[in-house]
Amino acid sequence: MPTDAEHTIFLKDYAPSPYVIEGVELEVDIVPETSTVRAWLNISPREGTAPGTPLVLNGEELKLGSIALDGAPLVLSAYEATPGSLTVFEPPLKRFVLETSVTIEPEKNTRLMGLYRSSGTWCTQCEPEGFRRITYFLDRPDNLAVYKVKMIADRALAPVLLANGNLIDSGDAGNGRHFATWEDPFPKPSYLFAMVAGDLGSIHDNFTTASGRQVALGIYCEHGKEDQCAYAMDSLKRAMLWDERRFGREYDLDVFNIVAVSDFNFGAMENKGLNIFNDKLVFARPETATDADFGSIERVIAHEYFHNWTGDRITCRDWFQLCLKEGLTVYRDQEFTMDERSRPVKRIEDVRLLRAAQFPEDGGPLAHPARPDHYKEINNFYTTTVYEKGAEIVRMLATLLGEAGFRKAMDLYFERHDGQATTIEAFIKVFEDASGVDLQHFQQWYLQAGTPKVKAEDQYDPATKTYRLKLRQKIDPTPGQPTKQPMVLPVKFGLIGPNGAPAEWSNVSGGDVRDDMIVLDKDAVELVFEGVANRPVPSLFRGFSAPVNLDINLTQDDQLFLARHDSDPFNRWQALQDVSMTLLTNAVRGRMWAEPAIDSLATAIGETIGLESLDNAFKANVLLLPSEADIARTIGENVDPTQIHEVRAAFIRALVGRLEGALRATYDRLASEDAYSPDQRQAGRRSLRNNALGLLVRGSSVGAELAARQYQSAGNMTDRFAALTPSVVMGVPGADALLEDFRVRFTADPLVYDKWLGLNAAPPEDGTIERIRTILADPSFPKNNPNRLRALVGSFAAGNAVQFARQDGTGFRFVAEFVADVDKRNPQVAARVLTAFRTWRNYEPKRRAEAEAALKSLRDSGGLSRNTADILGRTLDG
Ligand code: PHE
Ligand code: ZN
Repeated sequence: MPTDAEHTIFLKDYAPSPYVIEGVELEVDIVPETSTVRAWLNISPREGTAPGTPLVLNGEELKLGSIALDGAPLVLSAYEATPGSLTVFEPPLKRFVLETSVTIEPEKNTRLMGLYRSSGTWCTQCEPEGFRRITYFLDRPDNLAVYKVKMIADRALAPVLLANGNLIDSGDAGNGRHFATWEDPFPKPSYLFAMVAGDLGSIHDNFTTASGRQVALGIYCEHGKEDQCAYAMDSLKRAMLWDERRFGREYDLDVFNIVAVSDFNFGAMENKGLNIFNDKLVFARPETATDADFGSIERVIAHEYFHNWTGDRITCRDWFQLCLKEGLTVYRDQEFTMDERSRPVKRIEDVRLLRAAQFPEDGGPLAHPARPDHYKEINNFYTTTVYEKGAEIVRMLATLLGEAGFRKAMDLYFERHDGQATTIEAFIKVFEDASGVDLQHFQQWYLQAGTPKVKAEDQYDPATKTYRLKLRQKIDPTPGQPTKQPMVLPVKFGLIGPNGAPAEWSNVSGGDVRDDMIVLDKDAVELVFEGVANRPVPSLFRGFSAPVNLDINLTQDDQLFLARHDSDPFNRWQALQDVSMTLLTNAVRGRMWAEPAIDSLATAIGETIGLESLDNAFKANVLLLPSEADIARTIGENVDPTQIHEVRAAFIRALVGRLEGALRATYDRLASEDAYSPDQRQAGRRSLRNNALGLLVRGSSVGAELAARQYQSAGNMTDRFAALTPSVVMGVPGADALLEDFRVRFTADPLVYDKWLGLNAAPPEDGTIERIRTILADPSFPKNNPNRLRALVGSFAAGNAVQFARQDGTGFRFVAEFVADVDKRNPQVAARVLTAFRTWRNYEPKRRAEAEAALKSLRDSGGLSRNTADILGRTLDG
């Protein structure tokens, strides 16, 4: 094993390769056990390459069979081949063809990178560095080449043969075998290469682009699941249309195929013209998929499709630039969902995700800039910082430039960089050139890690009719970045007068204020608003206009005033969350809430869910009180998850005690006999009704009974699962019987089995770890399937804080041992599960010591993959 230090890669060391591969022809002979890959690489030296400069190609676990240059076999002394690289010592300084033949073993590939076999289907995953596991190559995103691939396979085992681009030839290959040749005319990096060979069913449709191009659409899946692909197809067509209307982007090939596979490390992959998906993000029918599942399918189908322009046509120069494609594409899929569904509700949901997943990353040992400047293992940088914070940065650009300015800049981006592998600097430059705005300071968002804390203080002077608003920002140190500069924060805001209408002012000074936006780019400003008739209540960071933690000295009355009167729906929701959070954190710190405080909160929540003017999906979010993880994060130190769990449970009982009538009325009023549809209106109704049910199960004596009835009579998985979940988590009488009923009735479907696994891992009670151990020990448990492992143990580590962070350390040790075991087969899955330890320093001393001991014994166990060793090292050091 190479040492860690040898493996650190720095952005500052970026240099173009001395040679370029411009064209690739592959012939892949697919045979069970050992497949053979022949490659013809069209290579040119880059201008300025010195004579005698060796050509070094990447490889991983490859076995070289033969090698020739311009048709002539190379003598042994002319090259060196190891499983990990191929060096040609003195290639000619002119265009040449390097021909290699290697063998690979897809059936043994449990890492699921490169060519592997999933339930009989051969498929590939090449991002970021999987192509080197298929053939020797310049496996880096700045090498753009055109690809032609001929696949040969047994006709019975693999009647379907797919690759990027267009099918240009196919036919018989003798001995019961056949072949297909695909060609992709668009130059692309190797990470976008894909091929699939298998016995698959499919559904087909087509789309006519704005300029009249006919595109054949196909979704391929395991036989018998074709009827579960309709929603994915519908989502794809809507995404294609939306990208034309909103960004002027048309699809560019004659074919767009999607393949659903059951073993996949991530969600899905944007390979040019051939997206490969984790099947859980394709399959859906009302009986087995929830509204949330339908929503994820729509989102990810759109996300991968949008990559065709932001990722494929314009790609990344190197992996440090990952958020150039990911942050931007997440922003685009967020906007798609906002346009298709409800803008404020989507914003609330995205911010909840950001706070739940990205804020803890940004505030812990794994914090890194959205554009990192070094890494040991790039697979560990597919993070919520790169994706979700990356999207927030693009959103702030859109906020600063306005809708028209943003669109103009995006048009220029597509025009200027189409066909290129580029950088964050180039992206920012486009925005500067299109708008004339200097964004050099703004660029810090890509370079500095950490979530800014903003403190707001205000004061109203009735004598002078002057309102002062002081804003200060600060970012705590993060690993490798002890000191920070202030960021550029777009603060969308409003001042609200006593009657609930916007307060007016005659003059404002002291800072950069543009209509409804303050641009805070210093450590502190003090804004002075003159001519303000009455004391206003400030509404700051409307729509969550910057990803910060806001600390503001509002009273509960002011917050409830905002909850009632803010014209910004996001901040209305936020205000109620803030009231709850204050009461909860005070209680955790030993200052129990006063009864009148709960009374007024309950009244405000009751009023909100009774309002005709708000939609159900919004109200559903109002009923989602701050989670245990939210509370732990807000408290930040000496965290005792059991105590937080108990305080929150008591808080819910106190609230529900006051809201039972309203919740019950909401529940009854929203019953419906309509046939299931996943649309926003129905899904919103169900989520409000089911969130009301969840609260009733947690806080009233009638809840368990209602839930049991709903479980039995539900006509769809959304309602059934929403009844089952709180029953199991709360351990109400009869919950075990419901869970067993669920297992018997549904778990033949692997995706529903995952739901059952997740429920087994969820109860905060003491038997949970044993239950998980028993399931894992069953010989029939599919112990190499990432979805199953994540559903059972990933969800436990990330979501069941009470049992994961048990004071006796058994939860930590169990997860550490699991990581060590899985790491031998699938390092990416192992490393991801291990990130659950990222907040270990925030626990109270006893738990902290136990977590540290578990991490250290994992380190001492030795033989860890680079993925897991990297996460472990940073978690312990940071
Ligand atoms: N690029 C994929 C996406 O965001 C994610 C992915 C990364 C998938 C690495 C597989 C491997 O859409
Ligand atoms: Zn992506």
